[in-house]
Amino acid sequence: MKKAIIFGVTGQDGSHLSDLLVKKNYKVIGVTRRCSTDNTSRLKHLLKDSRFHLFEGDITDPHSVLNVLSEHANVDEVYNLAAQSHVAVSFKQPALTWDITGKGCLNILQSMVDLKVNARFYQASSSEMFGKNYDVDRSQNKFQNEDTKFMPQSPYAIAKCAAHHLTRLFREAYGMHASAGILFNHEGERRGEAFVTRKITKWVGEYNKWKESGVKYIKGLHNDFEGFIEDPDLLYRVNHGKIIIFPKLRLGNLEAFRDWGYAGDYVEAMWMMLQQDSPEDYVICTGETYTIREFLDVAFNHVGVKDWSGLVVQDPEFYRPAEVDYLRGCNLKAKEKLGWTPKHSFAALVELMVEADSK
Ligand code: NAP
Ligand code: GDD
Repeated sequence: MKKAIIFGVTGQDGSHLSDLLVKKNYKVIGVTRRCSTDNTSRLKHLLKDSRFHLFEGDITDPHSVLNVLSEHANVDEVYNLAAQSHVAVSFKQPALTWDITGKGCLNILQSMVDLKVNARFYQASSSEMFGKNYDVDRSQNKFQNEDTKFMPQSPYAIAKCAAHHLTRLFREAYGMHASAGILFNHEGERRGEAFVTRKITKWVGEYNKWKESGVKYIKGLHNDFEGFIEDPDLLYRVNHGKIIIFPKLRLGNLEAFRDWGYAGDYVEAMWMMLQQDSPEDYVICTGETYTIREFLDVAFNHVGVKDWSGLVVQDPEFYRPAEVDYLRGCNLKAKEKLGWTPKHSFAALVELMVEADSK
């Protein structure tokens, strides 16, 4: 039975990766940080599985990293998915982001060397590292691949660049089997609610329930909901004589392009990287790019709303001090070397998320 340690097990990817590894009959040690509330909601279905174990530890604390690695020194694979992963938050908490997302990776790599842990290592690198930069192909398409230079646009991306280079350095300096997956945005029903896709689908799901609850709209004005929007920030309806308000969806920049895939597909690529004879870095993406506006179109269309302009407010609070305007990856290397391809289309991803949030 193979053994894997996952740092960041409670996150979106940590939970999908745990599912994958348990299905492959691994023993999984998931590292969770101490919280005053339960942070295992994405792992509930695994907590009683004898192959799945939690270990309390914080990636910023070298002692706890040493603890878990020395207790499980015979581990086969170590996945570092732990991060302060929200880009906007990284502008407000840059030092914490550095400690977790940058230095945390060093804590793991150095502990593995010090303890002579001979396991394969995966680092969760990010397309955010490309920031402002892209290359242009013969058909004038803009793209990023393994050779595109990094030009990071946030404290988060800079911390990820440091961790990425540390992974390369430890591979070269100590001969470690250490690989970094440069993953483009990946989403799904387990995505954190502060990321734009889930924020949208959560709102659309709630709106759909609210709209379809069979309650009449305010009489004398319009029966058609879309025609009845008076307040710039709020939607109204009447329920047994009471006016029920519903806040509009507040978002920032709708023009940025992202290459969005399904998280369940992407964790397979992480595992595949660690099964290769030699460690390398890979871009993982769909190769397609869409704006936030286009995401909104598909999400609202799925619940029968053709024009969402009256339902969404653009709020300066959600703009960032610096933006990444364009991400579109090229997954040729992953396809050729790993045999990996994404299984979900953009539309299928959005619809899957809206469906999950409408339940
Ligand atoms: P996520 O949902 O935000 O999960 C982050 C995980 O890190 C959580 O388990 C979190 O624990 C844990 N963590 C945070 N601070 C920690 C600390 N000090 N010590 C130990 N654990 C800590 O992120 P995700 O979407 O699953 O992404 C996984 C990794 O891939 C992250 O490194 C992210 O930066 C990177 N990445 C993500 C994407 C994407 O589109 N999702 C793309 C490229 C790269 P709590 O649950 O306690 O908060
Ligand atoms: N979060 C958020 N909230 N983003 C918004 C909003 C909003 O209300 N309105 C517009 N956006 C825009 C952001 O400005 C950005 O251009 C885009 O939506 C995507 O934002 P996020 O969903 O927060 O993701 P991200 O691209 O910044 O970062 C994610 O992907 C990276 C990989 O490229 C995270 O998962 C990172 O951890 C990951 O590395």
